Amino acid sequence: MKLHIINGPNLNMLGKREPDIYGNSTFKDYFSELQSEFKEIELSYFQSNSEGELISELQEADDNIDGIILNAAAYAHTSVAIADAIKAIATPVIEVHISNTHAREDFRKQSYISANAFGIIIGFGLRSYELAIRSFMG
Ligand code: DQA
Repeated sequence: MKLHIINGPNLNMLGKREPDIYGNSTFKDYFSELQSEFKEIELSYFQSNSEGELISELQEADDNIDGIILNAAAYAHTSVAIADAIKAIATPVIEVHISNTHAREDFRKQSYISANAFGIIIGFGLRSYELAIRSFMG
């Protein structure tokens, strides 16, 4: 099984960025842990700070990936275009967030991704990604 993780803006700053909310680990380190834990799965990873690049990545992943794990970060709360891209592709997308967005500012309670996602995993720290992988494993 091939699963692709797509991370949106500022998630390249994990480890440095607001560690009280997002923890101390870089995503690169966490991704290595995931690869060791799920050796039977072909895991790949893409991060961009740009909305258009995230959309292109979703479109390209459609043909050759079994599932997408998407943390659109702040774009989850603003991007109709990313929501449309998810609708346009056949590959199932699980929306993840590291923090519990419902326990934070009101503007984070709305996600354009959720209604189009196959499932939603929010607020388990970096473990949200692991839970998403397990969900795809059935
Ligand atoms: C986030 C939550 C978003 O509200 C925020 O803009 C992020 C990260 C999370 O993973 O908790 O950048 O998606």
